[in-house]
Amino acid sequence: MTPVERRLIAAAPKVRRSLLAWYGKHRRDLPWRAEVSPYRTVVSELMLQQTQVATMLPYFARWVQRWPDFASLARADSGEVLAAWAGLGYYRRARLLHALAKEIAAAPALPRTAAEWIGFTGVGPYTAAAIASIAFGDPVAVVDGNVVRVLTRLAGLKSPFASSAVAVKRVTPLAGALLDPRRPGDHNQAVMELGAQVCRKAAPDCVRCPLAAHCASRGPGAAAIPRIARAKTRRAVVDRVLAVRRGKVLLRRHPSDATRLAGLAELPTAESVGLKLETDAKPHAIRRRSVTVTAYEERIHLLPAKARLPRSRDLIWVPIHDLPFSAVSGPHLRWIGELARNQTKG
Ligand code: ADE
Repeated sequence: MTPVERRLIAAAPKVRRSLLAWYGKHRRDLPWRAEVSPYRTVVSELMLQQTQVATMLPYFARWVQRWPDFASLARADSGEVLAAWAGLGYYRRARLLHALAKEIAAAPALPRTAAEWIGFTGVGPYTAAAIASIAFGDPVAVVDGNVVRVLTRLAGLKSPFASSAVAVKRVTPLAGALLDPRRPGDHNQAVMELGAQVCRKAAPDCVRCPLAAHCASRGPGAAAIPRIARAKTRRAVVDRVLAVRRGKVLLRRHPSDATRLAGLAELPTAESVGLKLETDAKPHAIRRRSVTVTAYEERIHLLPAKARLPRSRDLIWVPIHDLPFSAVSGPHLRWIGELARNQTKG
């Protein structure tokens, strides 16, 4: 710990008080805050993992109305669960949430502490700390991207981090030392809320910040912190095809018993439509669009109207306007939206 961190920890009672007072005045009125339950906390935290609050709010409302508790979600049909998630993206979360509900419904007792939650399907350190602190008052600090930003700025940690995982590890002891043990759920949400509303990534609003008096970075330099190296992209490439005909898009549906992506539809890989790009590709016929994803590169090949396509039970033509209601994996839905529109325009 640096001297600045030690000073912050010595001032922890003041930091907590200022933070909680600000949270009491400025916190957004969110449905899982108005009515707190372990189930609602779990659903909201999983939905929030890769999605903005504004986007997930209507999904959250529909979800808890349809499946108000772990038991009802555990009994739900997995196709309906995926369909209810359609549009939120990262469907893995929907499947994990469904599996988690089944495990919880079958457990002899509801887990309470973060240590008890961790290890259930889909529950890592962040989610375990969020659920246990918010729903059960377990004094464990959450550390997500917002918390890393707030704490690295407070402590003036200017050195670059090799990855966000390294940054999380670096600030976790400080987060734990600052946590208010009497109101851990509110404290955790207050730090995240401060990160979302005031200590924003690009435009921190230090003038409105309740912690400015304690902050080593307040002012114009704050936006440069934290420095986190971008993940290196591996060179693996996946070739996919986009075929649009008569307002419909060709998709490949994964069998419902597939281990990965069960029941989800995706743009078919070139291989699955029998296209060998090295030998078959004609540079004039196929336009390429490269999209770099975290772990690998996806190349989308727009198929010309006349290209021959094989018949197969998993290949389906889906009307473009039905796509938002189909269980299509998140990025694919976005690419289809962008590319199909361009292609239709010519
Ligand atoms: N981000 C994820 N969970 C949150 C919460 N409970 N409050 C504010 N921001 C969040």
